[in-house]
Amino acid sequence: MPDDVLEILFTEDEIRGRVRELARQVTADYAGRRLVLVSILRGSVFFATDLARQIELPLAMDFLSISSYGEDSEGVVRITKDLEENIAGKDVLVIEDIVDTGFTLKYLLRTLGGRNPKSLEVCTLLDRRARRIIDIDLKYIGFEIPDKFVVGYGLDYRQRYRNLPYIGVVKPA
Ligand code: PRP
Repeated sequence: MPDDVLEILFTEDEIRGRVRELARQVTADYAGRRLVLVSILRGSVFFATDLARQIELPLAMDFLSISSYGEDSEGVVRITKDLEENIAGKDVLVIEDIVDTGFTLKYLLRTLGGRNPKSLEVCTLLDRRARRIIDIDLKYIGFEIPDKFVVGYGLDYRQRYRNLPYIGVVKPA
């Protein structure tokens, strides 16, 4: 385990099991529909690709990159790489690695909602609810987590540790 990691919160096996359960729910809920998974770069890529491989439906994948202006930006977010495909009339499922304040999703849902998808829902691997400021309806949640700094399985600490196969808690500085 890297020096920066204090303890493991979810093992690789636990994550795999939960992703499989979520995929089963998505498969049942979206049967016969035109599902588009929208993965928010960069953190959600690992989760999105694992989830997609467990969903037993034809689906499209698209990617969106955003940047927020600093820590106290209060939802000032802009798209730095937009979707490739038109989502009008499609069933869109936004894939996030973690939801904190909710500002990012508030902006994204408003922006994507304006493009007239048939439906627009969110699937997040982690929900750090203690930090929530904006109430967001999350259709699928992998795990609720305590108010701790976590890394791995897509989540970084200064751009490192995204590739850890587990999710770990970072040692306090
Ligand atoms: C994380 C996460 C969400 C956002 C959630 O991204 O992927 O997009 O923060 O925070 P909020 O609910 O407070 O808005 P991050 O900025 O760490 O970028 P990354 O995915 O590229 O690491």
